[in-house]
Amino acid sequence: MQYTETFKEIRTQSGYPYNIFLVGFMGTGKTTLSGFLKKHTGIEELDMDSTIEKQQGMTISKIFEEKGEPYFRSLETKLLVELQSKSGLLVSCGGGVVLREENVAEMKKSGLVVLLTAKPETILERVKNNDDRPLLRGNKNVPFIENLLNQRMPKYMAAADLIVETDGRKKEDIAEELCRKLLERL
Ligand code: S3P
Repeated sequence: MQYTETFKEIRTQSGYPYNIFLVGFMGTGKTTLSGFLKKHTGIEELDMDSTIEKQQGMTISKIFEEKGEPYFRSLETKLLVELQSKSGLLVSCGGGVVLREENVAEMKKSGLVVLLTAKPETILERVKNNDDRPLLRGNKNVPFIENLLNQRMPKYMAAADLIVETDGRKKEDIAEELCRKLLERL
């Protein structure tokens, strides 16, 4: 597939000296896309939520429940600082990572920030059968999602170097667009 070639080209041309951070609201497909790109391009992938879960020996839900959201947000910041020593990573971020300005600054130091977007209806469809997201527990409806998305949108937009829409699109198509836009940035 073309994006596989494109990705190889990106890595060859640039020596791939930076990290790519996938950001976006819950359910915009960050983890799915990074898993897909890892499989098809061999890029090293890091999922922030799973890394934090491993580091803490606790699920994200438990961390929220027992230690609270601010504690979780500090773990996100700590992990982003740790990532400064790495390069060539595709990082799938938690949906709230852009909430702290210092997180955005950390990401920009070592890489490019790619925003994935989706409509509230699409997001609901993608998250409705999953109970791992504490912020959506009891809130799985379009008005709640739309409201939180609107609150966060200025921060997502301010952080984004590139934007890729995901509504109604296949992984292949999204990956293709991401790679094309990355190439244009080289
Ligand atoms: C959160 C998103 C989640 C996870 C946590 C908080 C958020 O990640 O980090 O539940 O504040 O948007 P995903 O975007 O991968 O679901």
